[in-house]
Amino acid sequence: MDNYLQIIVSPLLKWYGTHRRELPWRLDKDPYHVWVSEIMLQQTRVEAVIRYYERFIEALPDVKSLSRVPEDRLLKLWEGLGYYSRARNLKKAAEIIMCDCGGVFPDTFAALMKLPGVGEYTAGAVASICFGEKVTAVDGNVLRVAARVTGSRENVLLPAVKKKTEAQLLEVLPDDAGAFNEAIMELGETVCLPGGAAKCGECPLRGVCSAYREGLTGELPVRVKRIKRRQEQRTVFLFTSDNGRVAVEKRPDKGLLAGMYQLPNVEGFLTEQEICAAAEDWGLQVREILFLREAKHVFTHLDWLMKGYQVKVARPDGHFLWVTPDECQEKYALPTALKHFASFPTGL
Ligand code: ADE
Repeated sequence: MDNYLQIIVSPLLKWYGTHRRELPWRLDKDPYHVWVSEIMLQQTRVEAVIRYYERFIEALPDVKSLSRVPEDRLLKLWEGLGYYSRARNLKKAAEIIMCDCGGVFPDTFAALMKLPGVGEYTAGAVASICFGEKVTAVDGNVLRVAARVTGSRENVLLPAVKKKTEAQLLEVLPDDAGAFNEAIMELGETVCLPGGAAKCGECPLRGVCSAYREGLTGELPVRVKRIKRRQEQRTVFLFTSDNGRVAVEKRPDKGLLAGMYQLPNVEGFLTEQEICAAAEDWGLQVREILFLREAKHVFTHLDWLMKGYQVKVARPDGHFLWVTPDECQEKYALPTALKHFASFPTGL
């Protein structure tokens, strides 16, 4: 099998056999215990979770008691953990288990996924740890270990990269998928730490780790946050004249699309009245306004959400360059963003 991750399975399981932490939710494989712990662990470190977990299980020892707990009491038990929707979803899921499943904990990945607050990671963890289902449970720790071992420079924050890692891990999952999933998470939490904190000297995978071999532990995994692009609304004008010409203009020499020719456009979505006013400001006399279409263009830092209008005008003036459609296509290459409006449909 051409899957480099195959090489980690056996040393990882062996390491886990001797380094597995004794944690209160590992005393048995009760899905209620594992589920509550996995939800608590989602945004909180293991050391911080332990005492919350113990108090929670003591107060609410099973699904039934959780399904009946008053909201105030529930939130009090959760106080300090933050992200309170996690607690509310736990109770909602417990109610569903009591009502719709006869109090029996769902025992497959697919059934677990239907519970509120349970995503692929949690469903994978519970299904594999408690029921031995061969499914992955990929969190940030797992992505880090996999990226370092394989030396992947792909951005682990991209859903597609997570999907690929899941698929690769699924291929090599051993029979005890639960132990493997916990082992790789544990390695990420205790040894294969983020940034420069990795304890490679203690790592059972050091001998097969590409990042270690190439000195890239500090660089991997690559985590590039998607830039939040500004959304800008624009109105685009396809001004057309009686003699079959179209108005184009040159953009400023600096900035976005510097120096390119464009169809005139302004910020905001203009009403027909505003379109008339804008045209008049440019010395144009509007005969007819026809809505063409909406379009979106994605720049690096900016999205243009555009509405385009064909505006038939009389008295084209000197403010714009008035060109024939052929000239426009051949001489004044328009930016892709504006091509949506330049198929020159009506009356040209
Ligand atoms: N972090 C979150 N869940 C975990 C688990 N089941 N084992 C090890 N680390 C974890």
